[in-house]
Amino acid sequence: MRLSWSTWPELEARIKASPAVVIPIGSNEQHGPTGLLGTDWMCPEIIAHAAHAKGDLLVGPTFNVGMAQHHLGFPGSISLRPSTMIAALRDWSISLAGHGLTRIYFLNGHGGNVATIEAAFSEIYSEASWRGEKRGFALKLKNWWDLPGVAKLCEELYPKGHGSHATPSEIAVTQFAYPDAIKTANYAPEIAPTGPIREASDFRARYPDGRMGSHPALASPEGGRRIVETAVAGLIADVAAFANEPTP
Ligand code: NI
Repeated sequence: MRLSWSTWPELEARIKASPAVVIPIGSNEQHGPTGLLGTDWMCPEIIAHAAHAKGDLLVGPTFNVGMAQHHLGFPGSISLRPSTMIAALRDWSISLAGHGLTRIYFLNGHGGNVATIEAAFSEIYSEASWRGEKRGFALKLKNWWDLPGVAKLCEELYPKGHGSHATPSEIAVTQFAYPDAIKTANYAPEIAPTGPIREASDFRARYPDGRMGSHPALASPEGGRRIVETAVAGLIADVAAFANEPTP
């Protein structure tokens, strides 16, 4: 079931059956010369929607702008500062939990979001801790590439040139879902440099075309299909386990 395509009475009935909701979360930021700006929110959304087609999942709206300040040197990138994102995640979570969606599973597609999402969880739980109360709901973060079997498959598909930004795996997932939007370029060098992530001007100077350690030409729709298929199986099992986790 997709939350945004449902009515409130349908939602009310659904919540009685299961308290779990999956929120795809990502970023809108440059992904090298050929990666779509939406890559990091598209990947978790593609996987969550494919899982929804196969299993009994409730998928909420996609949180599609994240913490991407280091990409702001490239046109089209949009970023929330960490404090803004923490506040937004708190409001989303409290809204959902207020309706009885007490197991909120964030399926993440952007490494730069991880620290902020974890800080948001701490912030949200802290409110209850200081009052000596139970928060009453549980939050979980999972990066799609950490779903069972995905990392192993990506190592097999891309033993060299996977890198960490504008990776062939994430680009393959978008190519599988949106084949009409596949772009090509001559990459020079083939495999992009690697190094630290700091502010936007430093990032652009170190990584002139936006890639980090990756060779996106290795991506293919078929590779993307295999990644999505593997991720879907892992997501369905992981969300079911989270939904059924006993409350102490
Ligand atoms: Ni990405």
